[in-house]
Amino acid sequence: SQHKVAEPHRPQFHFSPKEKWMNDPNGMVYHKGVYHLFYQYYPESTVWGPMHWGHATSKDMLQWEHQPVALYPDSLGYIFSGSAVIDVNNTAGFGKAAMVAIFTHHNPKGEEAKRNDFQNQSIAYSLDDGKTWTKYAGNPVIKNPGIVDFRDPKVMWFEKENKWVMTLATKDRITFYSSPDLKNWRKESEFGETLGAHGGVWECPDLFPLTLNGKKVWVLLISINPGGPNGGSATQYFTGDFDGKTFTPFETETKWMDYGTDNYAGVTFSNTGNRRILMGWMSNWQYAQVVPTKNWRSAMTIPRELNLKEVNKKIFLASKPVKEFDKMLVKSTSASNINIKNSYNLTSKLGAASSLFQVCLNDITANDFSIVLSNNKGEELLIGYDKAANQYFIDRSKSGIIDFEPGFAKKHVAPRISTNKNISLKIIADVSSVELLADDGLTVMTDVFFPAVPFTSISIRSVKGVLVKNIQYTQLRSTVK
Ligand code: FRU
Repeated sequence: SQHKVAEPHRPQFHFSPKEKWMNDPNGMVYHKGVYHLFYQYYPESTVWGPMHWGHATSKDMLQWEHQPVALYPDSLGYIFSGSAVIDVNNTAGFGKAAMVAIFTHHNPKGEEAKRNDFQNQSIAYSLDDGKTWTKYAGNPVIKNPGIVDFRDPKVMWFEKENKWVMTLATKDRITFYSSPDLKNWRKESEFGETLGAHGGVWECPDLFPLTLNGKKVWVLLISINPGGPNGGSATQYFTGDFDGKTFTPFETETKWMDYGTDNYAGVTFSNTGNRRILMGWMSNWQYAQVVPTKNWRSAMTIPRELNLKEVNKKIFLASKPVKEFDKMLVKSTSASNINIKNSYNLTSKLGAASSLFQVCLNDITANDFSIVLSNNKGEELLIGYDKAANQYFIDRSKSGIIDFEPGFAKKHVAPRISTNKNISLKIIADVSSVELLADDGLTVMTDVFFPAVPFTSISIRSVKGVLVKNIQYTQLRSTVK
């Protein structure tokens, strides 16, 4: 396609803006059979600037149509991150089933003047399915009480009490608010000042219920920048109980939704029933503005359905590609019961020769191994398992263009959480990104990389030797138009 020739690192089935700068996913909502993705967007440049909400729509979260910019900066400031809901009961009085966006107004003049109240929460509504928007005349709906970082409202309907609940990032903690009508908000409680990772500011939270063994468990996602497990920005989470006012965690240890360096500010779609679908920004504030792409900057992760799993009496969040992802699968080749000593070449054995692919290793012995993506320039990306440390890793230190930021070329690690004897894992690669979903999504790592020419060669290396019950290689489809 056109993009491929001119833009060697353009993802082919991950959402990326046609051009210019993008960061967080915003206002993700499912409405009348259409998934809406809004996103932090600066249409004038490939670096961050006055924020708008870009917009795209899709029937399957994989094939996206670009839409005109939805929200523009105004006299109250830039349009920072936030969420969208469908106001089915018309609680706000904007109209039945209005789409309502709840976002942060960031006033750059207030920031320049060194005020401490320049971020406020505002709303806007659309009566034509997200095409055109009207900002509420009574904005802001939550005035800043004097907290410099006061942003990224995620709103949900709390059925039991017929009210809206807002989860807001307030510097080093989360503040919960509630409202009958999206306009009048009351502070309910705070969470997290003394819990979790605090190596940076808390941002882009999300709160939602999932079910584990028939019981409702609430999950609180909190993005943090910097202070991630492998440097820069990352997303931690807690599981616990929420009664409409207060979040009570079950466990106090810090857990990470994704241990890679490139899944940030991820939140879930509104209005998807029992499905909890997350997309994250596939970059990291540590280098997002200097990655070697020219016409556009960054992409979103694939949509992932979240679920809970119990391991050693602890509850963990797990991710898997949404079922719609199956549409991306083109053709598969596989091999069974393979004893790998030193190296197994998927390119020659399984015809693996694309830079868009999925590889599943099922039931591989938990010994040291790595999956090597490489090109004819001697560049390579390693994805593997280290038995002594019981860790997965992605090593991009020789992955091509790495000199744009000193911390980029690194090996990233993640704990193996599963206690299964053997390992099963899935790798999803798309030109310049890899998503590792190990042990049914219990350990996840997402990393981006920039090879000089695409990685179209794959092999598995194991000096110590591993036995694999089944390897499946599947070429994936491009959705870029
Ligand atoms: C997270 C973030 C948000 C903010 C937005 C600004 O990446 O810093 O906290 O609303 O980006 O673009």
